[in-house]
Amino acid sequence: MSKHVLTAVAWPYANGPRHIGHVAGFGVPSDVFARYQRMSGNQVLMVSGTDEHGTPLLVQAQKEGVPVQELADRYNRIIVEDLAGLGLSYDLFTRTTTRNHYAVVQELFRGLNDNGYMIRQTTVGAIDPKTGRTLPDRFIEGTCPICGATDARGDQCDNCGNQLDPADLIDPRSKIDGATPDFVETEHFMLDLPAFAEALEQWLSTREGWRPNVLNFSLNLLKDMRPRAMSRDIDWGVPVPIEGWQDNDAKKLYVWFDAVVGYLSASIEWAWRTGDPDAWKTWWSDPQALSYYFMGKDNITFHSQIWPAELLGYAGKGNKGGEVGDLGELNLPTEVVSSEFLTMSGSKFSSSKGVVIYVRDFLKEFGPDALRYFIAVAGPENMDTDFTWDEFVRRINTELANEWGNLVNRTVSMAHKNFGEIPTPGEFTAEDQALLDEAAAAFDVVGSNLEHSRFKAGISEAMRIVARANQYIAAQEPWKLAKDESQRDRLATVLFTALQVVSDANTLLTPYLPFSAQQIFELLGGTGVWAAQPQVVDVTDDSPLTPVGVGLPAEGRAYPVIMGDYTTQQATWARTDLAPGTPLSKPTPLFTKLDPELAETGPEWARIESD
Ligand code: MF3
Ligand code: ZN
Repeated sequence: MSKHVLTAVAWPYANGPRHIGHVAGFGVPSDVFARYQRMSGNQVLMVSGTDEHGTPLLVQAQKEGVPVQELADRYNRIIVEDLAGLGLSYDLFTRTTTRNHYAVVQELFRGLNDNGYMIRQTTVGAIDPKTGRTLPDRFIEGTCPICGATDARGDQCDNCGNQLDPADLIDPRSKIDGATPDFVETEHFMLDLPAFAEALEQWLSTREGWRPNVLNFSLNLLKDMRPRAMSRDIDWGVPVPIEGWQDNDAKKLYVWFDAVVGYLSASIEWAWRTGDPDAWKTWWSDPQALSYYFMGKDNITFHSQIWPAELLGYAGKGNKGGEVGDLGELNLPTEVVSSEFLTMSGSKFSSSKGVVIYVRDFLKEFGPDALRYFIAVAGPENMDTDFTWDEFVRRINTELANEWGNLVNRTVSMAHKNFGEIPTPGEFTAEDQALLDEAAAAFDVVGSNLEHSRFKAGISEAMRIVARANQYIAAQEPWKLAKDESQRDRLATVLFTALQVVSDANTLLTPYLPFSAQQIFELLGGTGVWAAQPQVVDVTDDSPLTPVGVGLPAEGRAYPVIMGDYTTQQATWARTDLAPGTPLSKPTPLFTKLDPELAETGPEWARIESD
């Protein structure tokens, strides 16, 4: 039975180009998952976009001396191009500054407010002692009251992952000039998280198969449920849709309130862009539909607490009850799939700390599949992982180029040279059959790994089949058979067997390496699209607006989105039986070997600093 699978991918901030740490956390894992789901015949809706509000954007706009919308426009385009270049197969990758997004965010806010889950409260906010202007959360740094890290921000501590309020910080200081902020009273809307404690606990207690770190972290959050401010003293964001607030330019919704709603607003935008405005509902309202959320670990809180609370409250399912909003009752996440951090030389990948390898540079020099391979096989799936050029070179040269690239090349070359086509096999020996059976059995093993987001285990099994095929060729020595005319039948059988297993391994690797998978499919005589790729499309912001919003961005702005037609691709999660007689042509190498010196120096644009 075909299932509906929402693949919800964390929204990168449009405050700079993305580095490989970002795409290791949310990008590649989600795409491998979505591609596998589609190949298995499920109905995937994969959505995301750039996250364009909040202080991360303001801080950067101030640094660059440009208006914040201009900054967002610039990085939105760069990020769209980078993610499409990496082959991330979004059904829609949009942005949070669309009219539709504002309207949907406000609809959720109003629903929560009508049901009594938004509490107006006077809290303490920070202001700059010199200018008297409010200092939003990320403009403040200090010591984390929970773990003691000295570089916690006013909204969150990256070290322990806990959410904070600026007033929680020990020794708070302004990021602008280091001054100690003054704290003044200010009124905000708080999300009544304690009202969802029971519902959240019930939901979490029924989750199966989550990564233990993620589940434990989420369960821990239940121990300290406090109301959290969902508005900010800031002039950049979605207006608070409440009389007396919506025209106040100094108070907007908190960026995290709006960003998580993006999954829903992007699904709605996707539906009307594809001509069937109600199509999003199957993924959101059908209780059988599945939803997987992909992100780095600093995002867990927002996906296993804030977003589910927003969904519960909108449906009147907290302990205050309430009505179901106009969009209907919406599904809670099936699973929050979170990665750890990709680090370099021990420090977290972060543009602010100086150690950066940008996706753009990486793609230009090494191409998408090399990065996808590395992240899948050596990424931070279950623990913080250090990226080194040394390891990258080793993995690409010995595994991708030697093991896999050479296997494809050798088998196709020999078949082309001796037969010019896929040869007709004679009777299979026990060795042939054993290899064919092992490759066929791998579909279940790799498939079950991918279904459970065990990407490393999945690719290891696929590469194990590749290694088995190499052993088989070494043992059968087809180059010797080729020299003996009387062995022509046996040669045909051996090469057929090897080619069939190459095709199988290629299918198993397709979610991971969609670009080379397409090439190999063609090498084996296939025509048309095997693994579909995303497209960058220019669209305008002219959505029909139901529900209605206030203070929306101007109508008709142009912006790029990522979309794609993935339904007509031929890749399916099963053996494709090769047809003897299919013409073959001479292959060219698939993966270029990297210069070993790269391991020591790094590329020009990311030199290894020796200290
Ligand atoms: N912009 C956030 C970050 O980079 C992620 C937002 S995920 C969303 O950490 F769900 F809120 F959109
Ligand atoms: Zn901390």
